[in-house]
Amino acid sequence: MNFAPNSAEARDIAYHLHGQTNIKVHEEQGPMIIERGNGVRVYDEAGAEYIEGLAGLWSVSLGFNEPRLVEAAKRQMEKLPYYHTFAHKASSPAIDLAEKLISLAPVRMSKVIFQNSGSEAVDTAVKFVWYYHNAIGKPDKKKIIARKNAYHGSGIASASLTGLERMHQAFDLPITDRVLRADCPHFYKCGLDGETEEEFATRCAANLEKLIQDEGAENVAAFIAEPIMGAGGVIVPAVTYFEKIQVVLKKYDILLIADEVICGFGRTGNMWGSQTFNLKPDMITSAKALSSSYLPISALFINEKIYQAFRKKSSEAGVFGHGYTYAGHPVSAAVALETLKIYEERDIVGHVRRIAPVLQTGLRQFLDHDLVGEVRGVGLISGVELMANRDQAVSFKASDQVGPTTQTLAQKHGLIIRAMGDTIAFCPPLVINEDDICELLQRFGKTLDAVRDWAHRQSLI
Ligand SMILES: Cc1ncc(COP(=O)(O)O)c(C=O)c1O
Repeated sequence: MNFAPNSAEARDIAYHLHGQTNIKVHEEQGPMIIERGNGVRVYDEAGAEYIEGLAGLWSVSLGFNEPRLVEAAKRQMEKLPYYHTFAHKASSPAIDLAEKLISLAPVRMSKVIFQNSGSEAVDTAVKFVWYYHNAIGKPDKKKIIARKNAYHGSGIASASLTGLERMHQAFDLPITDRVLRADCPHFYKCGLDGETEEEFATRCAANLEKLIQDEGAENVAAFIAEPIMGAGGVIVPAVTYFEKIQVVLKKYDILLIADEVICGFGRTGNMWGSQTFNLKPDMITSAKALSSSYLPISALFINEKIYQAFRKKSSEAGVFGHGYTYAGHPVSAAVALETLKIYEERDIVGHVRRIAPVLQTGLRQFLDHDLVGEVRGVGLISGVELMANRDQAVSFKASDQVGPTTQTLAQKHGLIIRAMGDTIAFCPPLVINEDDICELLQRFGKTLDAVRDWAHRQSLI
């Protein structure tokens, strides 16, 4: 079927294909249709300009018109538009990318295996956790611990690990028999009265240990964590949290999977969030900024211990029965390689470190605003928590729709941000400069004032 662009039928299809939204509201309002991009800005069909404060989906690290990525795709398209990585085959871009990634890994890693999305990387990690424990003769060690408010994707396994109710409701998820749920390390919301941040981290680690003991360590296989939780509300872990958690994991011989899908490739001011928080993972999932999201590609890293177990087990089985048609797609891999080259040439990590204080300090100035309860963040990722009464730590009700209203009002002020509950997330392209951060902050300031006026009119504050 061929619909005229912007026809009612074409829009209707766009409504129904749109993810993570309220379908009814979406039908009434229609999607925002973005036509083109330039640097950190995108433009809608009417020509209105927006600063993309979330880099698309936390992902367009190099901005919206990097010609070198277009060229890299074109060159590879002309040379070899497709080849796979099955049955002892590969293509040069996939091999070169795997080698490059291993050289960049935050801890010593042995191999990477490609997929097309973060969800597939996480699903693959889950399969690999199970395969590994079968291979080493511990077939009962299968449960995976994930945290409340975590986001790990939309596949059956990755959504099950995700700790957000909205991703489960009416989907018959999570699959509970192999998923365990640990605390969310958000001190501002979960700390007890009189508890210090470090005491809170100690409590999270003690609760984790109890969870493992209650299940029996012989049944617990892995722990998965985003260094900074993204879609769960940009939650920066409490001080000393990961240090304490890792002691427990080590004690009970539990694998650590770092989900670096958002944090990887410079977002937190280091190449990896694992470096920022001193994580020593056995597996790493990465995607998004791997190709600046110009083409779909994700990569799962595994360490030598896991690889050696796979090697032995798959020899016995005769085959390693896993893979995707588009895994290591040569065009995506070529674009990812070019992306990594640009990161190095332009010292993107250094740039993030230099520019991050402008965003972080700028957003913290909104702590003076009566709607703002907490501002958190590291590098170029931040969350601003809106509160009905910040002095008495009273949140808005979900039915007040403060988050979605803020998102809409921000768009009216030329700013795209993402509201998750009442947390407003910022995660701009890594190439953003100081002037654009200042402009972003100004537009957000005007948005906040408009939200306050609206909240007064609604008698919410
Ligand atoms: C930490 C994390 N893991 C996994 C995913 C899933 O990635 P994708 O949407 O590419 O499937 C996301 C997506 O936002 C994510 O933030």
